[in-house]
Amino acid sequence: MPITPPPYRIKVVEPIPFLSAGERRGALAEAGYNPFNLRADQITIDLLSDSGTGATSAAQEAAAAVGDESYAGARSWFRFHDEIAELTGYPHILPVHQGRAGERILFSALLGRGKICVSNTHFDTTHANVELLGAEARDLPCPEALDFDSDEPFKGNIDLVALEELLGGPDGGRVGLVLMTITNNGLGAQPVSMANLQAVRALCDRYGVRFFLDAARFAENAWLVREREEAYRNLTPRQIAHRAFQLADGCVVSLKKDGLSSIGGFLGLRDVNLFAVCEANLIATEGFSTYGGLAGHDLERLAVGVREVTDPAYLQARAEATARLARRINEAGVDTVQPAGVHALYLNAGRLLPHLSPAEFPGHSLGCQLFLDGGIRCAELGSLYLGTMDEQHRLLTPAPFELVRLAIPRRVYSEEHFEYVADVLADIAKSPERIRGYRIESAPPVLRHFKVRLAPLS
Ligand code: F0G
Repeated sequence: MPITPPPYRIKVVEPIPFLSAGERRGALAEAGYNPFNLRADQITIDLLSDSGTGATSAAQEAAAAVGDESYAGARSWFRFHDEIAELTGYPHILPVHQGRAGERILFSALLGRGKICVSNTHFDTTHANVELLGAEARDLPCPEALDFDSDEPFKGNIDLVALEELLGGPDGGRVGLVLMTITNNGLGAQPVSMANLQAVRALCDRYGVRFFLDAARFAENAWLVREREEAYRNLTPRQIAHRAFQLADGCVVSLKKDGLSSIGGFLGLRDVNLFAVCEANLIATEGFSTYGGLAGHDLERLAVGVREVTDPAYLQARAEATARLARRINEAGVDTVQPAGVHALYLNAGRLLPHLSPAEFPGHSLGCQLFLDGGIRCAELGSLYLGTMDEQHRLLTPAPFELVRLAIPRRVYSEEHFEYVADVLADIAKSPERIRGYRIESAPPVLRHFKVRLAPLS
């Protein structure tokens, strides 16, 4: 089968650094063995995040040049608003500077002490925003989600039986909202089916609970629905995304991913009373409701980006590139969460490094090795991120898995870059037993993985 090339060519490039092995060792030690502390000029291939890291198009930059920076009612706001309103169908749109600002505003209206936010899986900052309000973030992923080797098409789904038990049970009255993350970034970039979203809608109607989407990757979820859910084969990704938005009462969206831009987000709402509460909060904390912390030129890039991102040719080329990288990595002897999603691959570090216990952080160790051997930066999703620890940072309960996420920035890296990543991993897979574990030296009380400092075990 011929490959699908991306429907664009490169117009502007940025050099990437190549450090020597010795320089990388020094850089990682100085960073407290935490890749979040590395400087970008020390990194050859940056797969830490697909958020705000994509390349913009000539059309986006042309639009940005006419950005209207009026404080209120800017022309750029109306262009942004009209694109988002058409895409989602929601009557009320509030711009925010990024997804978590929208989460904070929405959750402070719907949650509080004793309340529960239920999700297929909360993203890390989303989880933190729920819990900072004294509420509980409860994840109910479908049982297939934890079988990383199965080819089930929709492992991002929520467990409908568990959701109904919760909503109909003694804690049902405490549920402030159901939040479906599409695609499920916390658990393998797996998509959520439209059938699952419809069933969530029905349950929320039956129990009188609000249903929101965390739709940071609305276009990529729509693409995977089109590929994997029979009834949607003949719809465009944009039509599928629209239908998903229409199933929910509203959404919180980080546009740093499928907005194809470095910053931005929005809240979409149906309920005018909820809109009024959120708008007041937005004006007090983010900015007036026609810019929400964004510049006019950001709004312009986003208005073009949300249209470009649903181009089937773009989505197909991106999904195929991720799947090819997964195949290369698998052939090299490293397992990834199956089937491959679009925005990231998740390496099964626990399986590659069985000589390391969860308390030695195999995912983190593999991530560090990718930097030491190839200047590749990525993020752990395992016991360092999800485990519970005592005051001395000793692991009490490990995570149910030890993964490493290779996030793929949009329109940034070429096939050769991906080949390079696969080659570095293939080399590691030849003698994984040489990789040592790490111990924590210091860690903050919340969102530990961002600021933790570690040391290698000898
Ligand atoms: N929801 C999901 C599913 C996300 O993946 C993210 C961010 C957010 C919300 C928060 O959005 O960053 O704009 O405030 N994910 C990035 C990542 C950081 O690397 O996966 P934000």
